[in-house]
Amino acid sequence: MHLQFTEEQEMMRRMVRDFAREVIAPQVEKMEETDEFPLELIRKMGEYGLMGIPVAEEWGGSAADFVSYIIAIHEISKVSPTVGVILSVHTSVGTNPILYFGSEEQKKKYVPKLASGQYIGAFALTEPNAGSDAASIRTSAVKKGDKYILNGSKIFITNGGVADTYITFAVTDPSKGPKGISAFIVEKDTPGFQVGKKEKKMGLQGSNTTELIFDNAEVPAENLLGEEGMGFTIAMANLDVGRIGIAAQGLGIAEGAFEHALAYAKERHQFGKPIAAQQAIAFKLADMATQIEASRMLVYRAASLRNQGIKCGMEASMAKRFATDTAMKVATEAVQIFGGYGYTREYPVERYFRDAKVTQIYEGTNQIQRIVISKHLLNK
Ligand code: CAA
Repeated sequence: MHLQFTEEQEMMRRMVRDFAREVIAPQVEKMEETDEFPLELIRKMGEYGLMGIPVAEEWGGSAADFVSYIIAIHEISKVSPTVGVILSVHTSVGTNPILYFGSEEQKKKYVPKLASGQYIGAFALTEPNAGSDAASIRTSAVKKGDKYILNGSKIFITNGGVADTYITFAVTDPSKGPKGISAFIVEKDTPGFQVGKKEKKMGLQGSNTTELIFDNAEVPAENLLGEEGMGFTIAMANLDVGRIGIAAQGLGIAEGAFEHALAYAKERHQFGKPIAAQQAIAFKLADMATQIEASRMLVYRAASLRNQGIKCGMEASMAKRFATDTAMKVATEAVQIFGGYGYTREYPVERYFRDAKVTQIYEGTNQIQRIVISKHLLNK
């Protein structure tokens, strides 16, 4: 088993690392201060081919492999977990459902625009009363002539106020449970569709998270994704892959927080020597590094399975669960190592701490990941 990147993957790592340091890092403070979505930056990422990394050339993408895409989220999240989640949601659950389940017409119409970053993608599954229990969504879709009429609301939608297309899940047959859910491509200017309240969040400043309202929204029938009743399967299949992206985001957060903590521990002196030379801190650093290394293995193992076209729902959930718990643990310890300074906005570790928390919650809480993992174990 080789755990080495190919030349192409190494090139992606170097390119994204430079891009993150030179282009993204100078934007972080502004995002923190204003909570504004970094639209110009996302357009620039489009120019660099970063908004469609694993998408084939024929559909306007960069045609790199899945591991390269995960490398990009990992490296970007080290500098800005905000930009990491914008990219992950846009690609994994905003674009891929059309690529994998869309008709030729749908692919032609939407994928090149999404892959070039001209369009931003979003994924609208969660509702006020249906979070972990995703099959209990209530948003309805009733076919009338050549349209579906959608009614209901969605919450906590990443890229909510800025997306051009929303992969939206709604009930077309309430008698069939999960098999009565269908998926639609909803364009932002659809009559009867509007963006609702924007959330004020603990972290991930600059990532736009909103409510969506469907009030007799008129979606053309040709925007049904796959067939009626396939919606839940489309959601779950794309989340399987999407969770590797969130795992990579967690890995990036953990590494980012660790690098700052290590540098600070070497330079901060107390009791006549660097705090890194005190065993209490040295052991913390050792544990942090070990957890990060284990996360890296899980994340790239899931990504490599996906690269080979091998089913990896269980490995994706393991990676998501472990890497995002590691992000929270490492960021917490990083704040502790910085002491009082760590609690101030002068230093970046409190930002990683706030950004880490949601990675244990979204794309399936880490409790839901355990349900997914145990279902795989029991069905084997
Ligand atoms: N792939 C394909 N199909 C699947 C599947 C998968 N991984 N998992 C389930 N299905 C299908 C099955 O075919 C099943 O049909 P059968 O009965 O014929 O087998 C059907 O779906 C129902 O499956 P379950 O009975 O397992 O469904 P459930 O109601 O018990 O729910 C769950 C399972 C795993 C808990 C699911 O509800 C879940 O994943 N919940 C979490 C929701 C979530 O992750 N939300 C994230 C929102 S997006 C987001 O957060 C983005 C962001 O902002 C960062």
